[in-house]
Parts: sequence; C-alpha cells; structure tokens
Amino acid sequence: MTTILGIETSCDETAAAVVIDGRDVRSNIVASQVELHRKYGGVVPEIASRAHIECFDAVIHEAMTTAGVTPADIDAIAVTNRPGLVGSLLIGVTAAKTLAWVWDKPLIAVDHVLAHAISPSIGVAENLWPAVGLIVSGGHTSLYRVTDFLSVELLGSTIDDAAGEAFDKVAMMLGLPYPGGPSIQRAADGGDPKAVDFPRTLLDRDSLDFSFSGIKTAVLYTIHGKGKTSGGLETMSPQRLADICASFQAAVVDVLVKKTMRAVAQTGATSVVIGGGVAANKALREALTETCADRNLRFAAAPMPYCVDNGAMIAALGYHLHQRNQYASLDLAASGTTMRS
Ligand code: KG4
Ligand code: ZN
Repeated sequence: MTTILGIETSCDETAAAVVIDGRDVRSNIVASQVELHRKYGGVVPEIASRAHIECFDAVIHEAMTTAGVTPADIDAIAVTNRPGLVGSLLIGVTAAKTLAWVWDKPLIAVDHVLAHAISPSIGVAENLWPAVGLIVSGGHTSLYRVTDFLSVELLGSTIDDAAGEAFDKVAMMLGLPYPGGPSIQRAADGGDPKAVDFPRTLLDRDSLDFSFSGIKTAVLYTIHGKGKTSGGLETMSPQRLADICASFQAAVVDVLVKKTMRAVAQTGATSVVIGGGVAANKALREALTETCADRNLRFAAAPMPYCVDNGAMIAALGYHLHQRNQYASLDLAASGTTMRS
C-alpha cells in the first residue's frame, strides 16, 4: 500500500489530498478563493499567492486528519510545480519541499495538466487507457493521446483563449458572476440553444487545435449590436439572456465534441476521457456521453470533485511517478508553462 500526499496551489485553489495506490481517495480538501477574486471578475495573482500562504497549514492538517494518517504513514509528497501562476505555484512547491525535508520523504513534481488528463481514473478500478483525453479548464484546452499514466502526447491545444476563459469572459459581458462556467450553465437553463447561431471555429480540416476568440466577439455583438460595445444589457429580457447563454454553451460544446471525435478518428482510440473545470459542464458531459454511445466508444468523465483543481489528481499521478522512482530534488523550481504544450 502506497500513501501519497498531493499538494496543489497552481491557481486559486489551495488543495491537499491523501490517496492510496493512485485511486483510493482518503481525503480531498479544497480551500477555494472564488469569493476573494469575484469582484475582480478573475484571479488576481498577488491575492492568490497571499491566500495560499494563509490557508496552507490548515488545508494540510485537514487532509491528514480526515484521512486519519500521520506523517509516518506518508510514502511520498507530490506537488504541482507547473504550469500555472508562478507566485501561486511557489507557495505549494516551497511548502512541499519543506515537508519533504522535515518528514524525510521523497518529493515528486507533477504537471497540473497531465494530472487533469488522468483524473478520470480516480476511484475507477478498470483500466481506461489508451484514450483520447480532452482537458478543458480556465487555463487550458487541449487534446491528448493518453497511452498510459505516464505516456501522454499532446495532439492539439487552443491557439487563443481556453474554453473556461471564454465562459468566464462571456459571463462578465453578460453581467453574470465569476466563475463564468457555472453561472452560464445555470443561466442557460430554460434557454433555447438554437436561438443564436454562434460561430463554430474548427480551423483546418485536420486541425486538433481550438480557437474561442471569435465566439467571444460574436457574443459581444449579439449583446450590444454589431460595432458597439455597450448599451445592450440594460434592455435584455431574462429569456434573451437564457437564450444567449444556451446558444453560447451549445456552440462551445459542439466544437469540443467535434474536435474530440476528430482526435478519435485520427488516433483510432476506443475510449474518451475528459477532465478540468469545464468537464463539470452538464451539457458537455451529456453531449459526449451521447456521441460516444452512438459510436461505441467508452466514455469516462472525471468525477465532479476532481474536475476543478484538487490535490487528489496530483497524488494520483504522483503515485505512478513514485512507482517508477521519478523523484524531484529539494531544489525543485516552479514553472509557469507545461512540459507538453
Ligand atoms: O480546472 P480549473 O478549476 O482551473 C484551471 O486549471 O483553469 O477550471 C476552472 C474553469 C473556470 O474557467 C470555470 O469557469 C470553468 O472551469 N468551469 C465551468 C464549469 N465549472 C467550472 N465551465 C463550464 N461549465 C461548468 N459547469
Ligand atoms: Zn486546472
């Protein structure tokens, strides 16, 4: 039995988890900073770093006590060291290095995006690989060929905004609260997804890259009128708001599903997995469930608690790195960019 403490501070969630053998989650504690950042409509890096420092000790303590473990039970400490906000990453990396030194445990460096890619396997006994993995969050929108926990190849990624970023920015245009994804999903309820024919940017015929900047502009013009950037919100009826949200969500989901199916066709994969904050979106989960069923593909979405940033996925990938003795040294650095995109 291998017990890993996973630590995640790459953006605005301070998170820690204790996971056994890469899939049995004994605790998964997430201190969200959403309230701190809401009035700014997005994450403010300096505020995020300070908040990580303030709640780090309590999060680790709760993760350990909830799991019923002491430092003696921990086999290794896994920490996100890339990609993300460098000031935020540094808090987790420095704290993890300190714990590794004080408790005399091996340290493991984990790539946050690759951890999202394997997050659908948490709590699942069957082997999900090989699969096409769609990782869709506030910072990333990428397709991967996941052959195994440590064999993940980038197939394509966004050339401008991430899908979650588009949700957040469109929500802001519509006066809906941050984070935008859940707000738009709620507001879309009762809306007509066909009311506005928003563009579906698919790029070249074979491209597995994404682009979401065009749809953002299209939403802006739909709200205010072409060529204008203000004045439309005041007179918008609740039904029109619901229609725009439902149509925007449908267009983004359409692109994500089409590109994922393109990746399936190009790789010959028989499974599809999704992870990342936007993977919590109900319309996306339903569309992929249906499309995969139609095509006889196995589909696994990360369980809800492991869609948003969390320590369990860091511990889960950390376990597989531990199995291969892939440890980091105590001079581990934080990096803003991913290894593979
Ligand atoms: O993975 P995550 O917690 O952080 C990053 O690594 O970026 O993802 C956060 C993103 C935000 O952009 C948020 O608006 C989006 O995930 N999100 C959603 C939903 N829940 C969170 N987007 C669409 N529908 C949702 N239900
Ligand atoms: Zn994330």
